[in-house]
Amino acid sequence: MNHQMQGKICLITGGSDGIGYVASRELARMGARVVIVGRNSVKTEAAVQQIIADTDNPAVEYLLADLSSQREVRRVAAEAMELVPHLDVLLNNAGAIFLSGGRSVDGIEMTFALNHLSYYLLTNLLLEHLRKAPRARIINVSSCAHESPGRFRLEDLADPSGKGRYPAYKRSKLCNILFTYELARRLEGENITVNALHPGLVRTNIARNNGLLGRVVNFFIRVRGITPDQGAETPVYLAVSPEVEGVSGKYFVDCRPVPSIGMSYDAELAARLWDMSASLTAAGDPPAR
Ligand SMILES: NC(=O)c1ccc[n+]([C@@H]2O[C@H](COP(=O)([O-])OP(=O)(O)OC[C@H]3O[C@@H](n4cnc5c(N)ncnc54)[C@H](OP(=O)(O)O)[C@@H]3O)[C@@H](O)[C@H]2O)c1
Repeated sequence: MNHQMQGKICLITGGSDGIGYVASRELARMGARVVIVGRNSVKTEAAVQQIIADTDNPAVEYLLADLSSQREVRRVAAEAMELVPHLDVLLNNAGAIFLSGGRSVDGIEMTFALNHLSYYLLTNLLLEHLRKAPRARIINVSSCAHESPGRFRLEDLADPSGKGRYPAYKRSKLCNILFTYELARRLEGENITVNALHPGLVRTNIARNNGLLGRVVNFFIRVRGITPDQGAETPVYLAVSPEVEGVSGKYFVDCRPVPSIGMSYDAELAARLWDMSASLTAAGDPPAR
């Protein structure tokens, strides 16, 4: 085991598969205590056992939640705070594509609920726990899909009757970046950094929720994509590397900061998205500026 992350505690959403699974395994290999948030007990337990077997690190645990449900996000945040004394790394990674739309149990457009609101709510609920670490890092997995969000109107994002489901995915990934930059501004002067990333086109089953069309999308990704090991390189880099100590409010591709689209730097838009997310989740007071 490489001991680079010895003594650090990392919470990773969507660690039961794909990029999150590999990131969890690599952080465990470096000696971190790893808490995976999965949603399927059999699959997540199997992932944890595999990681323990592969890394010889027994400090890998899991919690369960359907992160599209705000109630479950609140429950799992409370369980995480019971389980560990603080958090050094929060990797918001769980995400999906819903090509036929859908409505969360809270009545919110499914892609926006899972891909953006769960990041927003879980992060806010865990901020005090991140503040207890000497230095903490928040990492938000976005996508280059954010570059073509189409018509981006805040008032449409949560509407489950909206048309155009892949655009909903793209917009949710732009929200990840707007959220990252806004949170970085709010956390300025604190010992918590927050960055976003695009992992590359990665051979995972990300479109698995979508029947035959999803299988076609996953096939295309399998032919063109990089491996999950390669896809996890940038999130692991952001969790571990001393090169990004103190670096906050950036968007990374291939372990390098790169510009995101112009709209993502609109601080007024980001502040409005923050306020809307707060009212949709009634998350309580935002962190101090
Ligand atoms: N693959 C790509 O090419 C690509 C490109 C750019 C960005 N990304 C981003 O990378 C992140 C990870 O995606 P991936 O490609 O690794 O996909 P993946 O293999 O499908 O993994 C997604 C993970 O999220 C979990 N998840 C899905 N819905 C959930 C829910 N409602 N509640 C809790 N957990 C849930 C899944 O759990 P189960 O195991 O139970 O399904 C799985 O662990 C996503 O944010 C995605 O937008 C991926």
